[in-house]
Amino acid sequence: MTAITFTARDVKDAASAKTQCAILPLFEGEKLLGPALEIDRGASGAITAALALGDFRAKRGQSLMLPGSGGAKRILLIGCGEGDSFDRAAARRFCQTICGALRDKAASDAMLHLAGLHLRKKDIRWALNYLATHCTRSAYRYGKTLSRPPAPWKLKRLIVNTAGSLGANAAATAMNQGRAVGAGINDARELANLPGNVCTPTYLAKHARSMGRGNTRLTVSVLEEKKMRELGMGSLLSVSAGSEQPAKLIAMQYKGAKASEKPYVLVGKGITFDSGGISLKPGAKMDEMKFDMGGAASVFGTMRALVELELPINVVGLIAAAENMPSSRATKPGDVVTSMSGKTIEILNTDAEGRLVLCDALTFAARYKPAAVIDIATLTGACVVALGSHASALFANDETLAEQLLDAGTEAHDRAWRMPLWDEYQGQLKSNFADIANIGGPGGGSITAACFLSRFAEHYKWAHLDIAGSAWNSAPKGATGRPVALLIQYLMDRASKQG
Ligand code: BES
Ligand code: MN
Ligand code: ZN
Repeated sequence: MTAITFTARDVKDAASAKTQCAILPLFEGEKLLGPALEIDRGASGAITAALALGDFRAKRGQSLMLPGSGGAKRILLIGCGEGDSFDRAAARRFCQTICGALRDKAASDAMLHLAGLHLRKKDIRWALNYLATHCTRSAYRYGKTLSRPPAPWKLKRLIVNTAGSLGANAAATAMNQGRAVGAGINDARELANLPGNVCTPTYLAKHARSMGRGNTRLTVSVLEEKKMRELGMGSLLSVSAGSEQPAKLIAMQYKGAKASEKPYVLVGKGITFDSGGISLKPGAKMDEMKFDMGGAASVFGTMRALVELELPINVVGLIAAAENMPSSRATKPGDVVTSMSGKTIEILNTDAEGRLVLCDALTFAARYKPAAVIDIATLTGACVVALGSHASALFANDETLAEQLLDAGTEAHDRAWRMPLWDEYQGQLKSNFADIANIGGPGGGSITAACFLSRFAEHYKWAHLDIAGSAWNSAPKGATGRPVALLIQYLMDRASKQG
């Protein structure tokens, strides 16, 4: 993967600064000032002339590429709309417009002149963070299983001229954070995009081991089925029973703080393919069930960003990896299994397998004496019906934890929406033949799934993110890498509190 480098610099003379492309934010109805004015003069009034034509009016989302002269080979004008209403949404649009305009161009470097951007310092830092994430994300191309890998983005280096804006160090820190988050997002996308015949539980275990290699802060261990049987993980093992691919429980321990600091545990649903098992899914779009390890992918991506950022915090990433397939050895509807917690489960539908692997991972998570446990799962089709693709569903047994996650999602623009976990819903999980049933009847499918998980998370602060709608797009098909940005933001917030 070709990565873009981000640099901050205090450039005194914008007109003579050498770059393949000078990027200038312009606001509707405002005179050229600062670097824009200097570059315009250096290019014999090329910007003034272009504006006079009336084609480019600095409307939000507009862009115009001009040939440059002097230091800049090209001049890219980015419309920012009206200065008074330039908020975070407008700043995001600004970043997206830059990436969109540079994407198919030959420029290998570019220089963004920040002066004149109508933002407070705090919001400029936020925008630079987002810019680095967005550019890094835009540079991602899937190529692993194509005979001709797609052409990489030409842009190698983005320099930000901070003169007249904020300190170069603050800008560099913001962009470094954003870049690490973007890299984590791309890692998550790559893993989730891989087909099910490549990305098996064994592949995920190898990937985890390779992440741990040569990294003193990250310790990786993998529990095999034999060990899981000894631990009594009858629920997790019931999912892989029909598959030739053995299940793996992967643990990645990141130590960034004192051993006495309790770790945050992230638990990812890692179903590398969900056929539904004996409760077989219909054929349409079944291919998309290779994305059913999107939760696991987001945990991998978050661990990657954590390692890069060297956050002073302890985090454990747990992946419950299995393939859900039908066979004569597969679990059947009506089968009763015993989970690691001792609770028995009547499996009324083998397609409700995510909660079956997660419940044993949640029981296992208690061993780490966690500060909080967050599981991330493409858990229910009902979640897609409820929230569509824009929000992940959030469930939590602790108000503070819920608020912190919602806030992190807002800050990182990777949003979640709180759903209820009321006792009334628990009744839907009653079984005549076991302590609990694995499905809860027709209504509130994402809630009853969360209720099921809550029974295995009674001894610590716990939250569950159902990312069935947010983890991938169907047209064009591809993983989004969500909610890596939310999770990293949450962990950064916690790390800054621990100090
Ligand atoms: N992985 C699916 C959930 C899913 C379905 C995510 C479609 C995204 C799109 C999960 O394992 C599943 O099959 N859930 C069932 C539960 C049902 C049997 C209670 C579902 O949602 O249909
Ligand atoms: Mn399923
Ligand atoms: Zn599933």
